[in-house]
Amino acid sequence: MAKLGRELRAQGIDLVDLSLGEPDFDTPQHIKDAAKKAIDDNWSHYTPVSGYLDLREAICGKFRRDNGLDYTPDQIVVSTGAKQSLANAVLAVINKGDEVIIPTPFWVTYEALVQLAEGKVVKIQSSLENAYKITPAQLEAAITPRTRLFMFSSPCNPSGAVYDKSELQALAEVFRKYPNILVISDEIYEYINYCGCNESIAQFEWMKERTIVINGLSKGFAMTGWRLGYMAAPKEIARACDKLQGQFTSGTNAVTQRAAIVALTAPLDATHTMVAEFSRRRTRVLELMKEIPGFRFASPDGAFYAFPCVDAYFGKSDGEETVNNASDLAMYLLNKGHVNTVTGSAFGDDKCLRFSFANSMENIEKGFARIKDALAKLG
Ligand SMILES: Cc1ncc(COP(=O)(O)O)c(C=O)c1O
Repeated sequence: MAKLGRELRAQGIDLVDLSLGEPDFDTPQHIKDAAKKAIDDNWSHYTPVSGYLDLREAICGKFRRDNGLDYTPDQIVVSTGAKQSLANAVLAVINKGDEVIIPTPFWVTYEALVQLAEGKVVKIQSSLENAYKITPAQLEAAITPRTRLFMFSSPCNPSGAVYDKSELQALAEVFRKYPNILVISDEIYEYINYCGCNESIAQFEWMKERTIVINGLSKGFAMTGWRLGYMAAPKEIARACDKLQGQFTSGTNAVTQRAAIVALTAPLDATHTMVAEFSRRRTRVLELMKEIPGFRFASPDGAFYAFPCVDAYFGKSDGEETVNNASDLAMYLLNKGHVNTVTGSAFGDDKCLRFSFANSMENIEKGFARIKDALAKLG
């Protein structure tokens, strides 16, 4: 889709891009200033594999401040993005044939990482009716003696689902019965939520010792290109990840690490301003989606995506293109509406499309007007 979008743009077509997976904001000034100072202060050498100690201490402080969780620096591994943190974690704990339960829809990388580790993905299909959250009964039904890991994001990319404390506790009660199952809790969208606070499954005392919490600076601080993610994990898992990372990439960028200390210890005003704007856009996107016949959706409680079910359009045609699934519809909207979206099949759900509202209100209005017009031509 991105490639086709570029081709259309090269032909001079004015495309509205609702496929973006990153904040459309600049990195806050105080973080940029810290990076400039770090360059001038010559933070230019190799860094410790797991990250500078004072950064790992700052991360421990963040966990105390935001999540009420106590970690020591030897439980923290800083990586080149949360994506690397996830890769480290999966490669460290999954052996060939181990089963990994992933609720659907999921971020595409999860499945690929399990395949790389030669594990077996076991999907649990969540439903629109349950706001794309799985139930404890679904979880328990998916568990087998081979289950080693459960992996999820809350807030979720792509659905925007956010598990509240009682929902997490209900899942945690299931895990209590299966002490060999580890959990990867991807909390990269932690700050971008519209319900006021984000809960971690690691807060339950029997879960903390088997949960790997993943987080990073990309989304909450508009720092996708800076590449810094981190995990908090039981010590032996952190040690294994340090070992792996020591051969893959070593420690991440020195300047980014110095700036990250400031990001994680300074007040979160810039993040809150950004989230307030996402919230305004979300409200508008929900209004605009209500005006589109056939769209069925849950309100996203977090992240910056809407994920409507679009199957009402399957089997329809504008006389030239026939839409049989979400990928066809994404292609149709690109070709005929000049709006770039992401097909739900990229996330394991072929009935939905993902619309990002990490774009200006003006582009959101323009994009949805085009989508509505293009869909009206399908009969
Ligand atoms: C759910 C989820 N986890 C992790 C990441 C990766 O973040 P990073 O930029 O820190 O690698 C993304 C990025 O899109 C994401 O959506």
